[in-house]
Formats: sequence, C-alpha cells, structure tokens
Amino acid sequence: MNLFFRKSIIAGTGLFLCIFLIVHLSANCILLLPEDISREMYNTYSTTLRESPLIKIVAYLLYASIFLHTAYAAIVTYQNRNAKPDRYAVNNAKENSSWTSQNMGLLGILVLLFIVVHLANFWARIKLGMGAEVAMDNSGNLDVYQVTYSLFQNPYYVAFYTILAIPLGMHLHHGLKSAFKTLGFHHKRGLKVLSKVSLIYAAVMSIGFGIIPVIVYFK
Ligand code: HEM
Repeated sequence: MNLFFRKSIIAGTGLFLCIFLIVHLSANCILLLPEDISREMYNTYSTTLRESPLIKIVAYLLYASIFLHTAYAAIVTYQNRNAKPDRYAVNNAKENSSWTSQNMGLLGILVLLFIVVHLANFWARIKLGMGAEVAMDNSGNLDVYQVTYSLFQNPYYVAFYTILAIPLGMHLHHGLKSAFKTLGFHHKRGLKVLSKVSLIYAAVMSIGFGIIPVIVYFK
C-alpha cells in the first residue's frame, strides 16, 4: 500500500469527520435555547438519530472513520519519522512550515484524548447504558439534555472541553487545507480561498465547541 493511498484515506475520513462536526455543533447549539424549548428539542433530536436505521449506518461510518483516520495517521507519522532520522536537516522544515503542520500528530493525540473522554461521558451512557442510568423526559425520550447539563456543572469538565477545543481547532485548520491538497486540489487562487475557509471553519468549530460548556455552566 503506497503513501498516496494511506494519505488519501486520512484525507477522505478527515473530510467526513469535518462534515460530522458541522452537524454536531449545529445540534449542540439547541442546548443554548431557553430550557422549555431546548430540552424537548434536544432529546427528540437525539432519539430520532438513535432510532433511524439510516443514521445508524452513518454512525458506523463515523466510528470506522475515526478508527481509520487515527490508525493511518499513526502509520504515516511513524514511517515519516523512520524515513527521516535527521528530520530538519535537509529541507529545513522548521523554517518552511508552521508549528501546527509539524505537530499534527501531537494535536491529533489531544483530539483523540478528547474523543475518548467525550464518548465515555455521553455515548457509553446513552448508547451502551454504562454508568448511572439516564432518566426519561416528559415525552418518554432519554433525557440527554439533562446528561449534558449535569456534566457541565463540573468545572473540571468545562475546563477540559474548553481547553481541548483549542488543539481541535488547530488540528482542523491544518487538516482541512491538507486534505484538499492531498486529494489533488492545487488551483493557485483556490488554495488561497481554501486557506481562509479552513481558518474560518476551524475558528467556528473551536469557539463553538469550546464555549457551549461555559455557557451551560453559567446558565
Ligand atoms: C460542546 C461540546 C460537545 C457536546 C455538548 C457534545 C454532545 C454530545 C452528545 C450529547 C452526544 C450523544 C448523542 C446521542 O447519542 O444522543 C455526543 C456524541 C458524540 N460526539 Fe459530541 N459533543 C461535543 C463535542 C464533540 C466534539 C468536539 C467531537 C469530536 C471531536 C464530538 C464527537 C462525538 C462523537 C463521535 C459522538 C458519537 C456519535 C454517535 O454515536 O452517533 N463531540 N456528543
């Protein structure tokens, strides 16, 4: 399997995860509405997703993408390190590329740490029924709204989610640009636009995911 194939898997799965994050952040914005609308809406949304057969397929694609993205990124990073023992001597990469591009592995590990803790907080409780039982709301849906609000009463979790939204944004900023380039997008003016779009996308994701726990804490 050649390097281009591996990098294309990282790029393709990364773009799919970027789309997931847009949907996920939009849905999480419901949490910021007044409680009487928000609880009902968020719980109905969450139940609809869990019960839809089509969304179940998308969810499996999501888990597969997280796994493949991480596994292939680890393989490519490991092979790059082994191929270039004196990594900066030849092309002076330190001067030619950003800190973010050189540290995508480290940023990726932080994002993965976030995802593992996050899935333990929500997914394991809601989907696998692990830990404290989740109550029902008045409409008979699992009260995912309550799970979220009680988690973010804990300032350590608020800090964890908010601080890790920074490496998430940095990873997305470089990752989005890189994915398009890997998949063959080399149009000169297009790349400039892509660079701006990546920055805006990453800032919205980072600020959005980072600020929701803080707002919930003070609400
Ligand atoms: C404010 C921040 C966030 C909140 C409040 C939040 C909330 C939630 C909730 C409530 C669920 C469970 C949904 C359900 O099964 O009904 C969930 C699932 C999930 N979240 Fe988040 N999330 C946040 C940020 C993120 C971020 C930044 C990522 C990725 C980097 C992420 C990745 C996921 C994944 C992969 C799942 C599992 C989806 C599934 O099983 O279908 N979340 N999140």
